[in-house]
Amino acid sequence: MLTGKKILVGVSGGIAAYKAADLVSRLRKMHTEVHVVMTKSATEFIAPLTLRSLSANPVYVDMFEEPKLWNVEHIALAEKADVVVVAPATANLLAKMAMGLADDFLSTVLLATRAPIFVAPAMNHAMYHHPATQRNLKLLQERGIHLIGPDSGFQACGSEGDGRMSQPEEILQTLVRFFVGSSQLKGKKALVTAGGTQEPLDPVRFLGNRSSGRMGYAVAQALQEAGAETVLVSAPTDLPTPEGVTRVSVHTALEMCDEVLSRFSEMDVVVKAAAVADYRPAVQAEQKIKKDGSNRTIELVPNPDILAELGRKKTSQVLIGFAAETENLLANAQEKMLRKNVNLLVANDVTQQGAGFGSPTNIVSFLFPDGRKIDFPQMSKLEVARHLVTEIAHLLGVETKE
Ligand code: C5P
Repeated sequence: MLTGKKILVGVSGGIAAYKAADLVSRLRKMHTEVHVVMTKSATEFIAPLTLRSLSANPVYVDMFEEPKLWNVEHIALAEKADVVVVAPATANLLAKMAMGLADDFLSTVLLATRAPIFVAPAMNHAMYHHPATQRNLKLLQERGIHLIGPDSGFQACGSEGDGRMSQPEEILQTLVRFFVGSSQLKGKKALVTAGGTQEPLDPVRFLGNRSSGRMGYAVAQALQEAGAETVLVSAPTDLPTPEGVTRVSVHTALEMCDEVLSRFSEMDVVVKAAAVADYRPAVQAEQKIKKDGSNRTIELVPNPDILAELGRKKTSQVLIGFAAETENLLANAQEKMLRKNVNLLVANDVTQQGAGFGSPTNIVSFLFPDGRKIDFPQMSKLEVARHLVTEIAHLLGVETKE
């Protein structure tokens, strides 16, 4: 599965650095092209010569030494990698990544690369459980960085606990799963809607909602990672468009409806994560509405229910809806799933801590028309999105080879 892949291995300065030799050796045996970048402190634990011999490529440590290639090396390495794996990733390196620091070769490559990044943390259990480290790991995961481990057990400092680096074999298996997954939806076309629509009252005011767009953006990213050609129809948000995804910007429910319906027939999967306004003001004032001290009434007219419309029109498409509820979660979600004719409904109670609008995490259940239900614990929205992509692959009848 890994043949011909260009893998950049980052090694930072922890005692687990010796395991990087085993990882590099195994990667080479799987016919990959391996390039190693070490931090200065990693070279105190393991000699660059070891990793140079095992990778059969120059090892990079210093930004300013004589170039080994003609081009800007940290950029060249960053650009050509199919994937970057940092093993071990120390607490210090994770903190630098979370902050976006670039004060040596490895941290600069990590900032410059657009390739998927995997980190295998390795540190003493107290450092691992420190709120700063936990926060950094959370932040990195939200940015789409894949976490491997850590394991629990005997530590080099003599204590027991979480923070041991995952074994090279497990790191390898994670990479294999990733590469299998990244071609899972190749050739499929996906459309995702995200964000909260804005329904104008006048040129400066609108009716909106609290949706941040994070869940939909995470779904678009996960679909794209799985190889699907992905279009994101997005209401206004502050979020960057995920790498490789085509974004179509809209403001209102009517605009979203047009953009979605005009593309529907060519799609294999549509995920409606947007919070669409159910109503819009009946009239939009041409000029800013002036205050005059009197009471005001806004007349609202219903917007089309885009998802229900898709449910009526659908032929072979896999259709996924979301139900954000504040009461009777399951009953409301079940009713919605049937009424909108979706293949899977993602239900979440937005009143729960760690779930719903604006939160980087979510607590969801997947409901299926055949009565199946999968409950997930609290996890990042990107993890939820990756679980959703696994189900989408099943619904599309794509074989999952592992
Ligand atoms: O009925 P409710 O708004 O709770 O349903 C939520 C689901 O329906 C979401 O997937 C949302 O994107 C979609 N929806 C829609 N058009 C609307 C309202 C909701 O597509 N006007």
